[in-house]
Amino acid sequence: MQAKVLSGNQFSKLPSSYIRRESDRPRLSQVSDSNNIPLVDLSNPHKTQIVEQIGHACREYGFFQVVNHGVSRKLVDQVLNVAHEFFNLPVEEKLKLYSDDPSKTVRLSTSFNVNKENVHNWRDYLRIHCYPLDKFVPEWPNAPSSFKDTVGEYCKEVRGLGLRLQEAISESLNLEKDTIINMLGEQGQHMAMNYYPACPEPDLTYGLPAHTDPNALTILLQDQQVSGLQVKLKDGKWLAIKPHPDAFVVNIGDQIQALSNGKYKSVWHRAVVNADRARVSVPTFLCPSENATINAPGAIRGEGEPAIYRGFTYAEYYQKFWSRNLDQEHCLELFKK
Ligand code: OGA
Ligand code: NI
Repeated sequence: MQAKVLSGNQFSKLPSSYIRRESDRPRLSQVSDSNNIPLVDLSNPHKTQIVEQIGHACREYGFFQVVNHGVSRKLVDQVLNVAHEFFNLPVEEKLKLYSDDPSKTVRLSTSFNVNKENVHNWRDYLRIHCYPLDKFVPEWPNAPSSFKDTVGEYCKEVRGLGLRLQEAISESLNLEKDTIINMLGEQGQHMAMNYYPACPEPDLTYGLPAHTDPNALTILLQDQQVSGLQVKLKDGKWLAIKPHPDAFVVNIGDQIQALSNGKYKSVWHRAVVNADRARVSVPTFLCPSENATINAPGAIRGEGEPAIYRGFTYAEYYQKFWSRNLDQEHCLELFKK
């Protein structure tokens, strides 16, 4: 019998349920890593430059990296250690948290949506809700023992950073600083710890297949040694994002694409795996409040520019997102006018 999670199990061969058909494989040799997504230094005293750089990155890539972001290196290292320790726990211990119900506020799962998908992905993940902290910390894992303190501290810091970035993004769209934040309401915050074990046949499968993030803004802490994140460029080619020990990778989610009336894109990205080393990543997802209505404000649309998407609540969107498989069309397509 196959255990429910990958981590802690040994595989000498890729099980057939993970093998993608020929036309749907990562073609790793065709992925470029010579270029990179823009790197924005948040300690730049010229705030207008930061806003310009972020605007440029959002228009051209939907992705950027930030350095001097204010979250200490020590805390970042501690979070990555906690992630490794968590996935190194005995399988029986981890399975107590297992669930494939996306509405659970704490759950360990595997692949993406195991009950909806035909082919599985080479990933385990722990997904937790993080805001408000007082409400959710009590239900977080007790092991490793530093989990709650370290992750709690990290969540506070990253939320502050995310809100600052949303202000800059708002300004880069020529909106008031607080327009986006006001529109998103009291934002939820979710975090995942992704664990991609070393994979016997990395050319035949994905850690996560191409997808866009359904939330507003994602702040990703990548493994500092092992690469795997790839972003789709405007020309259709895939670019590998090399690990940068001091940077977070930030990307626009579907909700900012919708409220910017498509000016900023929620870009396709994926995680690939490798034969030698396990990789971890820790994305933080800022999510509109459930009842926030997402609509492009008039101020963002030029004269006579129609709204591309109909208004919807985030609750409606999120439900639709999780009812699908990952590598289908962009979920926003279903909300076009
Ligand atoms: C995600 C994601 C990329 C990575 O969890 O949504 O895109 O590198 N992760 O793990
Ligand atoms: Ni993603």
